Amino acid sequence: MASTLDRLSYAARQTARVAWYAGHYAAGRRLLKPMPKPDYPIGPTPTRAEMTADMRALFTREWRDIEAGLFPAPRPLAADPGDLLRRSLRYFRDLPNVDARRHGQRDEEMPPGQQGDGLPDYYRQNFHFQSDGWLSEHSAAIYDTQVEVLFTGAADVMRRRALKPIAEWMAGRNQRALRGLDVGCGTGRLLAFLHGAWPGMKFTGLDLSPPYLAEARRLIGHTARVKLTPGAAERLPFDDASLDLVVSSFLMHELPADIRLAVLAEMARVVKPDGLVVIVDSMQKGDEPAWDGLLDLFPHYFHEPYYGEYVSGSLETWSRDAGLNVIATERAFLSKVAAFTKG
Ligand SMILES: C[S@@+](CC[C@H](N)C(=O)[O-])C[C@H]1O[C@@H](n2cnc3c(N)ncnc32)[C@H](O)[C@@H]1O
Repeated sequence: MASTLDRLSYAARQTARVAWYAGHYAAGRRLLKPMPKPDYPIGPTPTRAEMTADMRALFTREWRDIEAGLFPAPRPLAADPGDLLRRSLRYFRDLPNVDARRHGQRDEEMPPGQQGDGLPDYYRQNFHFQSDGWLSEHSAAIYDTQVEVLFTGAADVMRRRALKPIAEWMAGRNQRALRGLDVGCGTGRLLAFLHGAWPGMKFTGLDLSPPYLAEARRLIGHTARVKLTPGAAERLPFDDASLDLVVSSFLMHELPADIRLAVLAEMARVVKPDGLVVIVDSMQKGDEPAWDGLLDLFPHYFHEPYYGEYVSGSLETWSRDAGLNVIATERAFLSKVAAFTKG
């Protein structure tokens, strides 16, 4: 049962996070050279005050679920203040490189078919203009800061909205008998929250990037309950109907359309008939029509080769075609969380 002290401690931690990353966001805006506005039409956009109110409402919803006993309050994931500071400095030192790419002054992407490392062409790009794409220890070390700055401290809470449908599905089940998979787990934030909420359950995190998996191991620590394995989401190394829970956060919009459909089909293949699939990703056009313009602007300011096509489509429709039935959706700030059972 959560106490008043728990509520105050949750509120203080989340407020501090938002202030920390909003400060980075404001500083970054001063350091980055202005970009020309897009030369294509932009839909309606919310005011900053409306976005702040929406973010606050999201934290309130999470707290209500914690108070209702659906899942525990999240434990802080930062190792120590020094670690947070070191990551922050590294992020700011890298900003000029990101800015140079944004302004077309650097192009480090190799032409398709020439990388020779076995990774797919679509994967080996400087997504978000980030240094080294997904492929270095440096990129893995600053990714979480980059994402939290972008979402002014709300990235983790958006990921954690996956916990609500999972907690509802978990009722009456024995977590020790369940196996879960995080597809494209990256640096392991969602996995860490899942492991924190259901420590008896066995999880696997799969990702194509060894440095990101190493970062996930550092975050989660050494536990036999969480296995981390390199692999491609479009060829999941699991038998048909062998997993109880399959989750994914912020992967779908990074994939070309045909690969995305293949990944959804793989998720449907490996989940058990009574299992659950939960996907957290960008909201799509029409989920909150008054915010559609944000989805037009995002790929102009960040290198997101597949985002425009992603937000113009429907995750629910693609998933249905892959054999998954949507059972719940929630727009959570700039994301959408969707839960599915096998069709
Ligand atoms: C935007 S990040 C999201 C990471 C993490 N799930 C999160 O919530 O931050 C996308 C991740 O997907 C991984 N990824 C992209 N394409 C993949 C594929 N085809 N198979 C496996 N992982 C992939 C990348 O290496 C990266 O770690």
